[in-house]
Amino acid sequence: MIGRFQLSDSLKLIKNIKRTGTIVPSSKELINRLLSSIDFSEARCIVELGPGNGCVTQTILQRMHKDCQLICLELDNDFAKQLQTLDDPRLHVYNACASSIRPILEEFDIDEVDHIVSSLPLALIKDEVVQDILKTVGSNLKEGGRFLQYQYTLANYRDVKPFFKDVKLRFTWRNMPPAFVYECVK
Ligand SMILES: C[S@@+](CC[C@H](N)C(=O)[O-])C[C@H]1O[C@@H](n2cnc3c(N)ncnc32)[C@H](O)[C@@H]1O
Repeated sequence: MIGRFQLSDSLKLIKNIKRTGTIVPSSKELINRLLSSIDFSEARCIVELGPGNGCVTQTILQRMHKDCQLICLELDNDFAKQLQTLDDPRLHVYNACASSIRPILEEFDIDEVDHIVSSLPLALIKDEVVQDILKTVGSNLKEGGRFLQYQYTLANYRDVKPFFKDVKLRFTWRNMPPAFVYECVK
């Protein structure tokens, strides 16, 4: 198991702050808020974007059904390697940009996924890449599926809104820094 918080993870986050957008992994309270609307008894394929040190990944693995697959896309090579050490046959880690969901799902012969959980620092990613990511998220989610994204500001709210039927905003103080959760339903 990867521990929930390791100093080395924080050092890695700080070293790559322009790509990670944070200095410490998400708190238990933020992770609970992020995942609270997922019905884990029903979901059979979940995609995670920007898993980093795996603190959200491990909670998803603990909660998900034995027949559910979790596909993670992480741009940072070190974090991707660290995640690959998690010994769970339901977990598939790709050292890839979040915009490459479609070709990866094709390897599994999967048309659409139940939910997409994201820790991507959208505010730090180029506008055109954010648009590519949101487009591929929208087109690869099942009808009624959720895109769950946390952010420290509401800067990308207007980018996210057009891709979903409904977007609810949640908030928690109990994270460093406090965070919003976008709960988007396709
Ligand atoms: C804020 S960290 C999240 C870490 C962890 N999930 C958490 O909640 O503490 C964001 C992660 O997104 C990754 N990332 C940034 N841009 C990405 C992209 N375009 N595709 C995939 N991963 C990306 C970073 O490398 C980093 O590990």
